[in-house]
Amino acid sequence: MKQPIVTLITGANTGMGFEIAAELGQQGQTILVGARDLERGQAAIKQLTDQGAEATLVQLDVTNQDSIAKAVHQIETDYGYLSILINNAGAAFDQHQAPSQLSTNVMRRDFDINFFGLIDVTQAMLPLLSKSSAARIINISSMMGSLTASLMPGAETYQASAVGYQASKAAANMFTIQLAKQLSASDTNITVNAVDPGMVATNFGGTSAASAAARGAKTPAQGVARTVALATRSTIDTATFTNTNGIVPW
Ligand SMILES: NC(=O)c1ccc[n+]([C@@H]2O[C@H](COP(=O)([O-])OP(=O)(O)OC[C@H]3O[C@@H](n4cnc5c(N)ncnc54)[C@H](OP(=O)(O)O)[C@@H]3O)[C@@H](O)[C@H]2O)c1
Repeated sequence: MKQPIVTLITGANTGMGFEIAAELGQQGQTILVGARDLERGQAAIKQLTDQGAEATLVQLDVTNQDSIAKAVHQIETDYGYLSILINNAGAAFDQHQAPSQLSTNVMRRDFDINFFGLIDVTQAMLPLLSKSSAARIINISSMMGSLTASLMPGAETYQASAVGYQASKAAANMFTIQLAKQLSASDTNITVNAVDPGMVATNFGGTSAASAAARGAKTPAQGVARTVALATRSTIDTATFTNTNGIVPW
């Protein structure tokens, strides 16, 4: 019998994570809503189940090892495997400080969530993913982490100055590539890909969704379209960095 698709999304109580949960829930996947805050997570679960999705809360702070271990235990006990891991939780603590001045304490906060948190969750979930017949890891990255685009005059990323956030996403991209290569050379059937959602109207990085929308940001549904495609297509490549238009430069 075919295994039901069990999908964990980190940071799924709001923003793009919530939108991904809603869309994949509508498509019949069993959704594990990763949320670090119990109340915010429960509020998301209520909305998702009211929409008819099968959604369960997994309390998960990606920067906390105990929290990650408890999440693994919960998924192991309730399902015994994981089909899709979407590493969506993220934050940006830079406030446009110059690279020559940005405190490494701020950069460490960016890296704790966007790089080390993503890796800790991924490594902890790999045994559960390897119990799935064809598992997927989807890392929500950003063009802000593209080294190539940051050197292209005219690209939006060329103007950006958030070196901590940008470096943490570039580093997560390198982890994506290296893990994808390792897993494709092993006997597991797990793909690893990075996605650029574009600029999306959420409350990310201390701005409001309304002000981001006024600056031309995409809707959350537009922002998650590529991720939803990767989570639902029958077959996908590994070690790619894409947006809704196709391949983007690392
Ligand atoms: N919005 C954009 O324009 C944009 C563009 C490119 C890439 N991205 C990326 O897209 C992803 C989603 O961003 P978003 O725009 O949807 O932002 P958002 O609305 O701010 O959502 C971020 C989510 O991450 C969670 N989170 C933060 N720290 C966490 C931690 N330590 N452990 C677990 N969860 C944590 C937040 O939980 P709380 O609610 O508890 O804070 C929230 O659920 C991020 O990785 C971001 O870097 C965003």
